Amino acid sequence: MNVADSERAATALRQAGYDLTLLPEMADVVLVNTCSVRDRAEQKVYKRIRQLRGVSDKKPLIGIMGCVAQLEGTAVFAKAPDVDMIIGTRATDRIPALIERIQGGEEAVIDLGERAQGEVWDVSPLERHSPFVAFVPIIEGCNKFCSFCIVPYSRGREKSRSASEIIEEVRRLRELGFREVHLIGQNVNSYRPRSDEGLEQSSGATPFCKLLRAVSDTGIERIKFTTSFPRDFHPDIVAAIEECPNLCDWVHLPVQSGSDRILRAMRRGHVVDDYLRRVDAIKNSKRRLSLTSDIIVGFPGETEEDFQDTMKLVERCQYDGLYIFKYSSRPGTPASKLNDDVSEDQKKTRFLELENRQFQLQNIIYHGYIGRTVSVLVEGRSARSEADLTGHST
Ligand code: 5AD
Ligand code: SF4
Repeated sequence: MNVADSERAATALRQAGYDLTLLPEMADVVLVNTCSVRDRAEQKVYKRIRQLRGVSDKKPLIGIMGCVAQLEGTAVFAKAPDVDMIIGTRATDRIPALIERIQGGEEAVIDLGERAQGEVWDVSPLERHSPFVAFVPIIEGCNKFCSFCIVPYSRGREKSRSASEIIEEVRRLRELGFREVHLIGQNVNSYRPRSDEGLEQSSGATPFCKLLRAVSDTGIERIKFTTSFPRDFHPDIVAAIEECPNLCDWVHLPVQSGSDRILRAMRRGHVVDDYLRRVDAIKNSKRRLSLTSDIIVGFPGETEEDFQDTMKLVERCQYDGLYIFKYSSRPGTPASKLNDDVSEDQKKTRFLELENRQFQLQNIIYHGYIGRTVSVLVEGRSARSEADLTGHST
């Protein structure tokens, strides 16, 4: 989502006559896009601002955009006095106007407002992070309020884009030669546009299922989507993937914990059994679907027994990939009022134990690919070796 926001900001700036550089020492304006989903991400922002101070004699304007800007607001000015602009998560399209205000003599500007009425999600193909793969936001924000999560506060309530706009964008991307689109949102299953416009011809149990079929009808080669929230994951999503060859065979379904007690404290709205029912629907599909997930270890009150329940769940789910996080308290969330009583050492031990087991499990799955031919969209050179390329299968 942050990459998509940067692309949008770049589009607005280019339209206003700016050129883009990736070299901060060349820049008149430096924008730092920020994440605050975990404490470490937030720490990095301030480190980066300190580094930017010494980067050139030009004294560029410094703007902070994204979740840290939204949540900290004017507090950023106090912590980092060199910052000139604070650009909230829904102010990306107004950056040129904010720069103008600074140039007009204002010292510190801040915009934490909502998106303007009728704002279009226009991203120029030039600003896309890849000439082959495009992120297409379909829904912004989140109404779930999981107790550990900052997103509902940093990105506000759910707002869905109109289906006709999304479909039109995918059509254009296809014409421009893009091979793959990722439909993105904090919770894509909650996709609920104001009207049915663009979805009239598509069948589906939910608006998201209709959207999947409608986007498939554009004929773009590959469609991926993320993130799915377990409680709202409708089995018709699996049916749509089975029907439409260009819907890729991958579902990212974060579980967060394998203990019902912890899931309740996390306010996830699902228990392990509900989750496993979704997993079975995915695993029993006619296509072999890849399954990935997110897990937090060391949530307040997590006992060794709770953690072992998570280990069991991971064993049962046979994930193709897993993102593991150590719990970090986010100020303002309900969980931040709980006692963060799992020690850093315990969090680390659990993290490593889970990671190890996951590596063993996924290695077995990956070994199954030896000798098989799969279609890979090459995205660039490998960071690890000059001789290799990197890319993703479907
Ligand atoms: N601590 C640790 N991990 C977190 N995540 C979200 N909030 C926190 C937190 N406070 C993880 C969740 C989520 C992923 C994007 O980040 O696993 O799915
Ligand atoms: Fe955060 Fe995802 Fe829960 Fe929304 S559904 S509150 S984004 S963890």
